[in-house]
Amino acid sequence: MGNVFVLDHPLIQHKLTYIRDKNTGTKEFRELVDEVAALMAFEITRDLPMEETTIRTPVVEAKTKVLAGKKIGLVPILRAGLGMTEGILRLIPAARVGHIGMYRDPETMQPVEYYIKLPSDIEERELIVIDPMLATGGSANDAIHSLKKRGAKQIRLMCLIAAPEGVEVIKEEHPDVDIYLAAMDEKLDDHGYIVPGLGDAGDRLYGTK
Ligand code: PRP
Ligand code: URA
Repeated sequence: MGNVFVLDHPLIQHKLTYIRDKNTGTKEFRELVDEVAALMAFEITRDLPMEETTIRTPVVEAKTKVLAGKKIGLVPILRAGLGMTEGILRLIPAARVGHIGMYRDPETMQPVEYYIKLPSDIEERELIVIDPMLATGGSANDAIHSLKKRGAKQIRLMCLIAAPEGVEVIKEEHPDVDIYLAAMDEKLDDHGYIVPGLGDAGDRLYGTK
């Protein structure tokens, strides 16, 4: 069964409070989401494999470590996932980025895929699917199915906030996928919004309504 990790680092939790605050404006909201994404990337890359190398410091020759070159792919779910992508790329600049366009039909709450463009070698990459919100789980579930259908073998899911309902869907449908969150909230409301949540992530990132 996939694991669920809530990243409760004080800096992540502090910034998340201001992300949730309805008085936080678009510019600050976008900056905070970017910063939290970078902090989360720092935590979630703890287990990246390393290898030994030899270099010369100004003083001596020294054996030291570098990343073993594991191939990473980021897959933001459009559009709100884009708000987390740059922050992660600052820490993992060699990652390739695929995009999946998905929106939730406001009537049915069902996700609709409208765009997909992926790196050609996704089967060799460790993919991190990125979306700030895991609500009913429909969008992330469909995105992960879509990636698996195209050959993806190793997938992690990274979200800012999840509802228990969404986490259950991913655990049920994708027991091989670990989930990384900044917070696990209480529930969904009747419109499929996360409570207490942060509202509509895409609208708050891009100033739309
Ligand atoms: C939001 C959010 C997720 C989805 C989560 O996207 O960014 O993709 O809803 O809900 P779910 O778990 O119930 O599927 P939205 O459909 O609002 O599109 P947007 O990112 O383009 O604003
Ligand atoms: N999508 C959002 O942007 N926010 C929610 O609370 C649920 C889905």
